[in-house]
Amino acid sequence: MNGIRVEALTKAYRPLGKVRPVLKGVDLTIAPGEVVGLIGPNGAGKTTLMSCIVGFLNADTGSITIDGRSNDDLDVRRRTGFVPERMNFDRRASGGAFLRYMARLAGVPHDRVRARVDELLARLALTEASDKRLSQYSRGMLQRIGMAQALMLDPDFLFLDEPTSGLDPNGVFLVRDLIAEEKARGAAVLLNSHQLAEIEKVCDRVLFLKDGVIARDEALREVAKITITVTLLPGSYDVATVTAAVGGVLPKNDTVTANVATEGEIAQLVSRIVGTGAGVIDVRRRTADLESIFRGES
Ligand SMILES: Nc1ncnc2c1ncn2[C@@H]1O[C@H](COP(=O)(O)OP(=O)(O)O)[C@@H](O)[C@H]1O
Ligand SMILES: [Mg+2]
Repeated sequence: MNGIRVEALTKAYRPLGKVRPVLKGVDLTIAPGEVVGLIGPNGAGKTTLMSCIVGFLNADTGSITIDGRSNDDLDVRRRTGFVPERMNFDRRASGGAFLRYMARLAGVPHDRVRARVDELLARLALTEASDKRLSQYSRGMLQRIGMAQALMLDPDFLFLDEPTSGLDPNGVFLVRDLIAEEKARGAAVLLNSHQLAEIEKVCDRVLFLKDGVIARDEALREVAKITITVTLLPGSYDVATVTAAVGGVLPKNDTVTANVATEGEIAQLVSRIVGTGAGVIDVRRRTADLESIFRGES
């Protein structure tokens, strides 16, 4: 199975004859079994991008292929689950009735509808609320109903637009576990959330959408790399010798800034510097994280 590939995607809105470009050439890929987080400021176009990929909106130019086919291929659509930012449906229906309707719409065989819906209600901890009207549901319960409908046909491609907004901690844990289960099943997952800590926990990789393009594409292992700044005693070292000892990083203002992957490497880095005869007067560490990427600091 192939994953999701988006190339040179552009999309502008045209309110009242004005042209407002939102996506200006977005490229991304998501492999089967990969959970990718999409972050970016409000209005960056995260919802627009997701809506284009699932086929809710038409992009202007560029291409979207899912498992090697166009995103409006019916078979691809059947294998795609989508939890929109807001679900608008008749709130007079009960949660169970809504899901049974969605099951029939998705083509679940008639004699399987009830069992499938009961499974999903149980999985989303909504069994008790099954007969309650949606108008009585909390925001978090509506989110979980949205998740349930998206999982109806065990999708290979799952798109979640802020799935944890409005959820209490238990709801957040539930969605986190669910994403892990879908990943284990081999689903490709794209997840848009403002909760950076949540993204860090569930995602293999994170995309930062800014000014209409993917400004950062980071494996989370790399995001967590450790930056070490070593301050040298002025006049105590030879620039060329220190540069060679730290693998080519030139000291600047009597400091050497280098990245290491593990904490164990911190001591190695410092001892290589000390080994040149340089005086070390300070060592500081900084872990690049999603927050600093979001703030544009790293
Ligand atoms: N239907 C629309 N018509 C005009 N502008 C829109 C429309 N939908 C969204 N926008 C604008 O497009 C930009 C991106 O919106 P959106 O994709 O919802 O961003 P995000 O999900 O990252 O917050 C925003 O500036 C928003 O105001
Ligand atoms: Mg949005």
